[in-house]
Amino acid sequence: MRDPQRVQEILQSMMKAGSNTVQVISDFDMTLTRFMYNGKRCPTCHNILDNSRLISDDGKVELKELLDTYYPIEIDTSRPVEEKLPLMVEWWTKAHELLVQQAIRKDMLTTAVRESEAKLREGFQLFFDHLHEHSIPLLIFSAGIGDILEEVIQQAGVFHPNVKVFSNYMDFDESGVLRAFKGELIHVYNKREGAILNTGHFQELRTRPNVLLMGDSLGDLNMADGVHDMENILKIGFLNDKVEERKQSYLDLYDIVLIKDETLEVPNAVLLYLT
Ligand code: C5P
Ligand code: MG
Repeated sequence: MRDPQRVQEILQSMMKAGSNTVQVISDFDMTLTRFMYNGKRCPTCHNILDNSRLISDDGKVELKELLDTYYPIEIDTSRPVEEKLPLMVEWWTKAHELLVQQAIRKDMLTTAVRESEAKLREGFQLFFDHLHEHSIPLLIFSAGIGDILEEVIQQAGVFHPNVKVFSNYMDFDESGVLRAFKGELIHVYNKREGAILNTGHFQELRTRPNVLLMGDSLGDLNMADGVHDMENILKIGFLNDKVEERKQSYLDLYDIVLIKDETLEVPNAVLLYLT
């Protein structure tokens, strides 16, 4: 923490306001899901498909090349975001085009997720169940793939009715084959625009001006930009990769930084304190 005193003040103020004034906004990949497990990287929503039987060998090679080219750019804090923006659009656009070429079938997604190595972080059950029990809305705001993300939380048994998702959704033709992605593209650095597009959601939650925000990318810091008349925001950041290079930026911008912590213990402790 850069300023533990400030964190304490925010927490006290949110607790006094009551849990019926709180909403949670969380990123998905590498925030709700694990970054590493048994010394191995865990997949993002995109990687679940990239590594699945639904993609041809040639397709896999091309998707891996894209990942190796663009992921280092995504996490490079020495390059300004403006410079990275067009490159991120390029990455997502190329990857989605490749996925469409693979003629992915909707009815195969369940198996692809079941056979994947994706894992929610330790403590996920308490996190999701506690929010549900206390009727606290959880917005999962992801630049991943909505259909995949929903399947992950569905299979984990935690897709409760208080969960709402903003993400990139697949568009299937009448025979159930992927033909495009729906709506405006969400990538890691345009979550602010995504938030503004969904004003209806934040309008519904206008009686909840206290926000717990969770992310793993500096792009996730903008996820709450649509919240009406915000009173308090507590930002928890997971720093998973390139720790030394990125530590200072994370400490400057997130209130609490969790370094290589594969659990939801800290967010859970915050929620238990607030409820
Ligand atoms: O849920 P979240 O917003 O974190 O999802 C975005 C993540 O997906 C990015 O951090 C990025 O590294 C990853 N990604 C990927 N393959 C792509 C595009 C994005 O693994 N083709
Ligand atoms: Mg993420």
